[in-house]
Amino acid sequence: MTMKAVILSGGSGARLAPLTNTITKQLLPVANKPTLFHILELIKEETPVTSISIVVSEDYGHQVKERILNSEYKKHFEFDFVFQDKPLGLAHAVQLTSMHMQNESFLMFLGDILINKGEIKKAYEQFTKNKPETLVILKEVEDPRPYGLAEVENGRVTKLVEKPQDPKSNLCLAGIYMFNPSIFYAIANIKPSYRNELEITDAVDFQISQGKKVEYYVIKSWWFDIGTPENMIKANEVALEIKKPDLQSEIKPTVKIKGTVTVEKNVLIENSEITGPVIIAKNSVIKGCKIGPNVSIGESVTLENIKIENSIIRENTRIHHFPETISNSIFGRNIELNFSGNHSVNYNGNKKVRYILGDDTKCSLL
Ligand code: G1P
Repeated sequence: MTMKAVILSGGSGARLAPLTNTITKQLLPVANKPTLFHILELIKEETPVTSISIVVSEDYGHQVKERILNSEYKKHFEFDFVFQDKPLGLAHAVQLTSMHMQNESFLMFLGDILINKGEIKKAYEQFTKNKPETLVILKEVEDPRPYGLAEVENGRVTKLVEKPQDPKSNLCLAGIYMFNPSIFYAIANIKPSYRNELEITDAVDFQISQGKKVEYYVIKSWWFDIGTPENMIKANEVALEIKKPDLQSEIKPTVKIKGTVTVEKNVLIENSEITGPVIIAKNSVIKGCKIGPNVSIGESVTLENIKIENSIIRENTRIHHFPETISNSIFGRNIELNFSGNHSVNYNGNKKVRYILGDDTKCSLL
């Protein structure tokens, strides 16, 4: 079966502000790679898709287009970019791609979803074998109220509800769907929801009410919607865990390395302890630090005399002599934190601090 794909890469990313004041959330790195690229990698490895429509918003659309067209994925996929000028809902976004789908089945992925390897392949096999109108991918969650919810019976989906007040199941819509072209008819038959959006949940629920075959696949392994700092940090942790160790720079005798650690080329590390999983991108400098576990460090970052765990640092950021342990934090690009000054800092690495800092933040001790 041939298949196309649609990836929705719009949305304001408000819950990730101030990080998303300068970049769209789908391009924020998890294990040093944008979520959108993790998704492209999965589609490449686990499906026969070679043609992808990316739906982008007016504000960040050009940024997304440029990153994708400059990436290695340009060689594998044919891309087209569809601008959605107003956030009128996921079903509206899908509707905008109809002319590119040309009557083929397609995979739809929300661009802020990270999922373990292997699941998409199994769901795709089920879709091609059973040929339902729609296959929704589900994940068991403790509280489904912030999501779309699926009620199921005997292998079929019996009802879908967006943001349920009184959930009758704990299976949420994971933001990944497989459709045959009949979904466009369903979208044409729904009305905007209470949040004034055309919901894809309502379109699939319309198919169910019309007696169409809607199947589901439940994700067994990990899945994250990276829309909040907490989820992004957890996703970073699991994405780092599945990497293989790879040391491409010289590791000096003054450096202790434990666990799965990736150090890219031209990285200088001195007098430090690195406890994996950790990734350090090229051209970075680490001196007198305790790094890890679960830390991703972008390109050309300088860290001196700091302790950091469970965090993401983007490129060109510099942190010097930080008095406490930095934990569960996300740092944007070009940040400078300098606590060396002329005063002596009372170092107490046992206290933990958390920062979510946007690009170009500057902070120093006077
Ligand atoms: C969207 C979908 C919802 C789904 C969720 C997954 O919600 O509408 O059905 O469960 O993505 O992350 P939104 O992110 O728009 O609140």
